[in-house]
Amino acid sequence: MLYSQIIGYGLFLPKKVLTNQNLSQIVDTSDEWIYSRTGIKQRHVALKDQLTSDLAIEAAQDAIQSSKIKSSEIDCIIVATTTPDNTFPSTATKVQNHLKIKNIPSFDIQAVCSGFIYGLEVADSFIKSQKYSKILLIGAETLSKIVDWKDRRTCVLFGDGAGAVILSPSTTKKGVLSTKLYSDGSWIDSLFADGGPSLNQKVGKIRMNGQDIFKQAVNKLSESTIEALAKCNLKIQNIDWLIPHQANQRIINGTAKKLGVDESKTISTVKYHANTSAASIPLALASSFKSGVLKENNILALCAIGGGLTWGSCILKV
Ligand code: ACO
Repeated sequence: MLYSQIIGYGLFLPKKVLTNQNLSQIVDTSDEWIYSRTGIKQRHVALKDQLTSDLAIEAAQDAIQSSKIKSSEIDCIIVATTTPDNTFPSTATKVQNHLKIKNIPSFDIQAVCSGFIYGLEVADSFIKSQKYSKILLIGAETLSKIVDWKDRRTCVLFGDGAGAVILSPSTTKKGVLSTKLYSDGSWIDSLFADGGPSLNQKVGKIRMNGQDIFKQAVNKLSESTIEALAKCNLKIQNIDWLIPHQANQRIINGTAKKLGVDESKTISTVKYHANTSAASIPLALASSFKSGVLKENNILALCAIGGGLTWGSCILKV
């Protein structure tokens, strides 16, 4: 049996930081309102000429360095993003071009905030079927470019960043132990961008019914995590760390409570990164690995939910 082990972790956050205090000068809001409802204190924001691919490339190079492989060994690139540089080509091909790797498959995944979990299932299937053996999987976003900076209900929630991992086959039981993915398109009106190439030839801005999403998130994140645990014959008591999508501290706490996981075993970076959509889990994963919080053989439960709705979970052994 082959497992998809993570052999390298990378991350990148743009230098520019926007605090809640800074935001209160742009829209009618306050640090107290934002922090008490979301747990967010600040977000990183890309510069005008800093593109999603630029963030993705930085995180990729960090992951390659941490894995100690050469970039020429990478045989597949997957980028999960909701904010690609262009309508086409894919952001993954821009990363490939920068890394000077030729004649390998590169493509983007669009599953909004669940994109990295979707990417883990795709990469794991590729490795198990022995198609590819050094897969670079990136979650990268510049959500600040599609936020409506006049809408206080949404602009306070999001941030920019990128996280990356390198997956490689292992015959020991490490890496991806199970994944479980879902979508339900009947929720398309609850969270969407009001533009697109076919719809109106515009990029669009984020529109959201926050309360709908909040109610769905806690149930769906906990249910898919229980399903993913069952698939690899584990119980919630076997989990060392829960890493939920970093959308909102109240959703993170609600999910942990529903699963019966103590808050001390829950990784949260939302205070510093805000919601970075497809980058949220790989950023939390890479930053907690690099800071030494995650130890070898720790078992992690990752879970995410996003527009669509799409959602899913992955059980992972470090
Ligand atoms: N600052 C000050 N006041 C605000 C702000 C703000 N930034 N945003 C909204 N308000 C006001 C509203 O206008 C409203 O005022 P009113 O009663 O006079 O009309 C009041 O605050 C309450 O608004 P609600 O929308 O009811 O606020 P709620 O308590 O539901 O909190 C929130 C909003 C934080 C978005 C919440 O619904 C939530 O956490 N939802 C989850 C959504 C989420 O995290 N989405 C991220 C993307 S999806 C994903 O990643 C899964």
